[in-house]
Amino acid sequence: MLTDPFQRDITYLRLSVTDRCDFRCLYCMSEQMTFLPKKELLTLEELDRLCSTFIRLGVQKLRITGGEPLVRRDIMTFFKAMSRHLDSGALKELTLTTNGSQLERFADDLAACGVKRINISLDTLDEAKFAHITRWGRLPQVLRGIDAAQKAGLRVKINTVALKGFNEDELFPLAEWCAARDMDLTFIEVMPMGDIEPDRLDQYWALDDLRGTLASRYTLTDLAERTGGPARYVRLEETGQKIGFITPLTHNFCESCNRVRITCTGEIYTCLGQEGKSDLRKPLRASEADAPLEEAIHAAIALKPKGHDFDYSRQSEGGKMTRHMSHTGG
Ligand code: GTP
Ligand code: 5AD
Ligand code: SF4
Repeated sequence: MLTDPFQRDITYLRLSVTDRCDFRCLYCMSEQMTFLPKKELLTLEELDRLCSTFIRLGVQKLRITGGEPLVRRDIMTFFKAMSRHLDSGALKELTLTTNGSQLERFADDLAACGVKRINISLDTLDEAKFAHITRWGRLPQVLRGIDAAQKAGLRVKINTVALKGFNEDELFPLAEWCAARDMDLTFIEVMPMGDIEPDRLDQYWALDDLRGTLASRYTLTDLAERTGGPARYVRLEETGQKIGFITPLTHNFCESCNRVRITCTGEIYTCLGQEGKSDLRKPLRASEADAPLEEAIHAAIALKPKGHDFDYSRQSEGGKMTRHMSHTGG
């Protein structure tokens, strides 16, 4: 079992398999991103060994992220390989967070690999606004991907970054659209990471405020159930729909943190909102034996900080986090 210095058990691994993405969401990437040369990336075999080691050490939930995970070549080979840990019972959940653009192609294969539930990022239902926020993404392609996922029997949760002045007016339409398709919906407070465009602060929308608007139309009941991620859920009594809130800025959820992140080059970040990281690629490549890698993992987790530290007010003082969200996959 992996336990951090604050007695939190680490059972959730988020693995970024690529830093690339076919979109460039304004709050996630800059327009001109420099991507890593392909030779810097861990191979699929190395990713397999790394994940298998974490699973041996107690990880039960594995989420594949990016960039956009489905743009990595041969990624289905990797999902297929990971599905053996579901078959053995060591892994309870294999899943991914995706922008949906490639799902038409891959939804059936993912279901065949034992993926049951996926999270898809979607911030607006308006085609022009979608093209703006993703810089060039095409909404119909993503909607076809969502349909394909549901047809393949995957349970879909939509992730929407709450952006004042951008999708404020879509709160009810988004909720209704998801309810009509039996999809859960989670709102996320926008985090100050990467190059911050001047309007990011203006776009910050605290979810207490959003919740209040929702409560003006629906009766909200807090739910105790969790999915192992940071979201807290409510049920809208009138429709039975579940809505999640991820509130890194207004209600810190670090106390119950159960997760670490690995980048596609084998760095482990033990907190999304801190710069601390350790290198696992070196021990991974240095020896075929398990012990040095396991030791390096334990040593990294021993450095896991108590919590994240996002604060828009420090942006102007140079206290900003320059790492882009896409580096660690959210
Ligand atoms: P579920 O399994 O459905 O609970 O998913 P999840 O919320 O764990 O994963 P997802 O990839 O959908 O993450 C949604 C958002 O939550 C992303 O924007 C993440 O950046 C954010 N998030 C996840 N974990 C953390 C965390 O530990 N700290 C912070 N600050 N944000 C997080
Ligand atoms: N703040 C909050 N969420 C973000 N995401 C990407 N960048 C940010 C940010 N700066 C979200 C994406 C996706 C998830 C992995 O992270 O929309 O749903
Ligand atoms: Fe790509 Fe997701 Fe980042 Fe948008 S949020 S640029 S879809 S990785």
